Amino acid sequence: MTEPLRIALAGLGTVGAGVVRLLDRNADLIARRAGRAIIVTSVSARDRHKDRGVDLARFAWEDDTSALAERSDVDVVVELIGGSDGPALALARGAFAAGKGLVTANKAMLAHHGIELAGLAERAGVALKFEAAVAGGVPVIKGLREGAAANRIAQVYGILNGTCNFILSRMETEGRDFYEVLAQAQAAGFAEADPSFDIDGVDAGHKLAILASIAFGTLPAFGDLALEGIRHVLGADIAEAAALGYRVRLLGMAEAGAAGLFQRVHPCLVPVSHPLAHVTGATNAVVAEGDFVGRLLFQGAGAGAGPTASAVVADLIDIARGVVGPPLSMPTDLLTRAARAEPGERRGRAYLRFTVADRVGVLAEIAAAMRDAGVSIESLIQRGVQADGSVLVAIVTHDGPERCVAQALERLRGSQSLAGRPMLMHILD
Ligand code: NDP
Ligand code: HSE
Repeated sequence: MTEPLRIALAGLGTVGAGVVRLLDRNADLIARRAGRAIIVTSVSARDRHKDRGVDLARFAWEDDTSALAERSDVDVVVELIGGSDGPALALARGAFAAGKGLVTANKAMLAHHGIELAGLAERAGVALKFEAAVAGGVPVIKGLREGAAANRIAQVYGILNGTCNFILSRMETEGRDFYEVLAQAQAAGFAEADPSFDIDGVDAGHKLAILASIAFGTLPAFGDLALEGIRHVLGADIAEAAALGYRVRLLGMAEAGAAGLFQRVHPCLVPVSHPLAHVTGATNAVVAEGDFVGRLLFQGAGAGAGPTASAVVADLIDIARGVVGPPLSMPTDLLTRAARAEPGERRGRAYLRFTVADRVGVLAEIAAAMRDAGVSIESLIQRGVQADGSVLVAIVTHDGPERCVAQALERLRGSQSLAGRPMLMHILD
């Protein structure tokens, strides 16, 4: 065997400690598969004295995270701090400046600075790898960038946030309250440092921007994404969806078409017959449609220490084997800038839920707004009075342009009949 691959580990939280445990436990197997040992030489985090359940005394400690990149006993830097800028970005830039490869799980940094970092890595002739950044332990980056490399991809979509899927499926099966389940996801280590990134769709958006770039050969365009999270999904929506034969899932979706690239993260109603309806807990699942391979489904644990460490170490094994390659689907100067496609002309069915005052004329007002906007109603269900005196009205529309549904909601904006913000979920048909 040749010389070991020497790594520096920045960030020793859920994922960082998981990487140390995995490299320890499977050291022999990893060395045989990689062709050489992979060893940690140095580490950094905020608190040197925190007990992380792993033995760190054998590694050099750097208080200044950036110093890891400059160490002579480091070949590859592993960034597991998080955050789009700050110390993570400084370390990534420092690694490339020092001619060292980088492995990261940081989708926020890649969504915002991926193109710059990929360019720096290419010019330095070193690896930038980020399998763990999208769908945790699921090898979807490798699957699309390598396994499906010969295909034109028309569409990529799926469940990209473990925290949201964990919350939605617990709300569904246990009838639990949103915030109670969020606390469980945080305790399990799935949630981002700022959990609003999870529940407002930002984290799924970061991942979708990276996936779309790899699937379509386009520059990552996080700013072009329409984002909506699950904060406003009620237990009543989940129950209503179930009664209609659907499950609520937060989906990220990217499609390349004549109008450009359409990218959206949105809670959707998924028919129970669709595989994504059966994805529960912190599991992620990504569907990609290739012109020769057909439909691919990648599924597995999307978050947590073990699965995420598995993806990080898989990248390290690639580097140990000498696999570099362009970080995105092709060299950065070949990536194109896609026009942003608007949702208006897209067609589909939608679920709308209104919380309304219990008085005469309210249903007529909603129905009139739908009629005036050209939205055809497939079904309308009104549920009894809630504890606060309001009433829930759930509508499923017939297939039609999304533009019309948006117009109907615009007509109802500010109506005295509505007791709260309407909920719109697209239906995956
Ligand atoms: P944690 O919050 O558990 O750990 C973050 C680590 O970074 C901690 O060790 C912390 O130090 C250290 N850190 C934070 N700020 C600084 C700083 N300013 N300088 C130096 N060190 C700092 O995060 P995770 O392990 O959950 O996530 C790490 C990355 O992996 C993120 O990019 C996340 O998005 C991504 N990821 C996480 C997944 C998961 O399931 N958790 C799954 C996929 C990706 P200290 O411990 O001393 O406070
Ligand atoms: N917070 C993220 C999630 C971690 O819940 O999916 C994995 O990227």
